[in-house]
Amino acid sequence: MSNTRINPQPKVKTPFPGPKTEKVLKDLQKYESQGDLCFANYGIPPVIEEAEGLFVKDVDGNVYLDLTSGFAALNLGHCPKEVIEASYKQMNTVHHTAQQPTAVRAQLAKKLVEMAPGKLRNKSKVQYDTGGTNAVEVGMKLAKAYTKRPYVLCYQGAYHGRSHATLSVSCFPFLKENFFPLMPGGETRVPYPYCYRCPFARKFPECELFCAKYIDGILSDPTWGLIDKKKGTNLVAGLLFEPAQGAGGYIIPPPGYWQKMREICDKHDILMIDDEIQMGWGRSGKWFSIEAWDTYPDIMMVGKAFTAGIIPNAAIIARTEIMDVLKPIHQSVTFSGNPVGSAAALAMMEVVEKKKLIENAQKMGEYFLGKLQELQEKHRIIGQVQGKGLMLSMELVKNRETKEPASDENRELIRTCVKHGLLLTISGHFGNRINLVPPLIVTKNEIDIGVKILDECLTLIEKK
Ligand SMILES: Cc1ncc(COP(=O)(O)O)c(C=O)c1O
Repeated sequence: MSNTRINPQPKVKTPFPGPKTEKVLKDLQKYESQGDLCFANYGIPPVIEEAEGLFVKDVDGNVYLDLTSGFAALNLGHCPKEVIEASYKQMNTVHHTAQQPTAVRAQLAKKLVEMAPGKLRNKSKVQYDTGGTNAVEVGMKLAKAYTKRPYVLCYQGAYHGRSHATLSVSCFPFLKENFFPLMPGGETRVPYPYCYRCPFARKFPECELFCAKYIDGILSDPTWGLIDKKKGTNLVAGLLFEPAQGAGGYIIPPPGYWQKMREICDKHDILMIDDEIQMGWGRSGKWFSIEAWDTYPDIMMVGKAFTAGIIPNAAIIARTEIMDVLKPIHQSVTFSGNPVGSAAALAMMEVVEKKKLIENAQKMGEYFLGKLQELQEKHRIIGQVQGKGLMLSMELVKNRETKEPASDENRELIRTCVKHGLLLTISGHFGNRINLVPPLIVTKNEIDIGVKILDECLTLIEKK
């Protein structure tokens, strides 16, 4: 995308923060809850006034390259013209009806069913919602109602939301403090295929996916408490998973992993509940990231980039017989299936298709990963880089042999990058990873700008 409003050259003036930023931050801290703000990671976050494509401008006129994509919601970058126009047109036609039907939501549901992965394609139904957290709640409810079983198996290091139910399957303990009891039945966690820190000290591919076989063992051994002794069946409704972990640090499972888990779930008659909230909509180089492992789930949740970040919208797509457990008015929120959200989602998909952005995600992902590998050769603090499409990450360590997490250094790096005009997302089981999340429209030039700033800031951090 060519910028017309913001000069696409990061530039941060000193002193940082500027006077206008300081004033707004003071007000925010005085009048707003701290629950939703990013001071903890950024120290001083820029106060955004204007944004376009990959660039944002703060209230003091500083320009930043944004590699956060608003927690992966902006797959078309900031202010995508086509989606804004489609939303605006819909707003001027009919903008809200609650449960009264509209043609645009029907059109979107049809499209979702026709594009769903594997056995979901043309054999599923859609339930709308307004956000990722809610969608995960619905995914779990569907699995429990369909199987009539109480447990949801989830992964260590996962993030699925902060409501009572989703917190129980999210795995960052500090988020749960003081909020117990949470949803019962979500306590059983299994290790994520985090090969860089393999909990079984094995190496892929010689390991032959031992971590997946270990989960098979958990589901087979009655002492894990997941088997109904009387019936001889298991008590697990479904396995909830992110195809690649988002907040966990864009950790990408090895080839074959999700196919193996498909086999294991089928063997134990467990549903696969795929949380595509962060990784869907082209980021992996496929429409849905589970497709990058050539397999499919039984229930899938999408959100975030569903409308290119224009309006909150989410959907759950489940096999028809599973979705049919929902009876009329069983599941609804005021804004589910909103016409503007539906029009925006259809427009987002049209832009991705027309501009061949999934292909761009694959191409630019490879280019970016190559650049990160070059950085890794130069900077010893980078222990690992990973990438599939535009889900890219790097992990900082104090020592490459011991892999001791460099969490403080990571936070320092992120804060230094802000001052040099680059916005990044902190992540990881130890807070020592950085997610690099460009929108699907990213160009080589923009990647080069980001890598140059990262390189300079890594040098500064390593000197300390
Ligand atoms: C994988 C995943 N699931 C669920 C959620 C929750 O989505 P939301 O914040 O839109 O409620 C997130 C948010 O970051 C996420 O990354």
